[in-house]
Amino acid sequence: MKPSEDEDIAAARERGWRQLAPIDEAFAAGRIDRATWHAKVLDVIEPAYLAGDNPRAQSGHSGNAAQWRNARSLLVDTLPDRTGRPITVLDVGCANGHLMECWTAWAAEAGHMVEPFGVEISPALADLARRRCPHWAHRIWTGNVFDWQPPRRFDVVRTGLDYIPASERGPYLNHLLAHAVAPCGRLVVGVFNEEADHQELEDQVRALGHTVGGRIQRPHRHPKVRYKAFWIDQPA
Ligand SMILES: C[S@@+](CC[C@H](N)C(=O)[O-])C[C@H]1O[C@@H](n2cnc3c(N)ncnc32)[C@H](O)[C@@H]1O
Repeated sequence: MKPSEDEDIAAARERGWRQLAPIDEAFAAGRIDRATWHAKVLDVIEPAYLAGDNPRAQSGHSGNAAQWRNARSLLVDTLPDRTGRPITVLDVGCANGHLMECWTAWAAEAGHMVEPFGVEISPALADLARRRCPHWAHRIWTGNVFDWQPPRRFDVVRTGLDYIPASERGPYLNHLLAHAVAPCGRLVVGVFNEEADHQELEDQVRALGHTVGGRIQRPHRHPKVRYKAFWIDQPA
């Protein structure tokens, strides 16, 4: 059966949405707790990523290198100006470390020096990231970022808002701002896929009391969808 346009857009917005929706519903209905939500999401993600035969698939991206770059390199434009010194960047949910590698390389092309760090809930993926990036092994932590106390703060913390149940977004953002983002640092949400004429995620974050300091978007292969990121700037 041909998917409806809504299903087509939903699939373009979020890979695996059919498998993850029932887990979200179970949490929203109170049938599972947060620890079980994380475990069930990991049961879907971890085997799929570990079965990937290329670094992008091991980070949850199904495209080729050019598509990966198109989908992720807008993150370079989320970096704050730190003339003359490296920018410390935490990739929350770093999977196999490929974004840490690419973001650092793309930023260097644009004249920024990035020092990447990562945290990953899946011990197997975090191990893979440490094996793939042995020079950064000491900067890749295993943990659920929501419960994690980072050993330091970062100029930029990048996260997705699908790493926690939707109703937990408020406390989650507050946790990252209180414990992970440095004074004058930046909390970047993205890259996520959303319809060009929607601002649902950004509106939710604003409704939680945050000021969105900036945003960026780029065309997606689906004409109605965009790759997007936005950020919250931490005061001094
Ligand atoms: C789509 S991948 C992102 C890979 C890469 N950072 C990127 O943006 O392309 C999401 C990763 O986040 C991890 N993750 C999900 N929830 C998490 C949490 N609460 N704490 C730490 N990592 C989490 C998943 O295991 C997965 O490896």
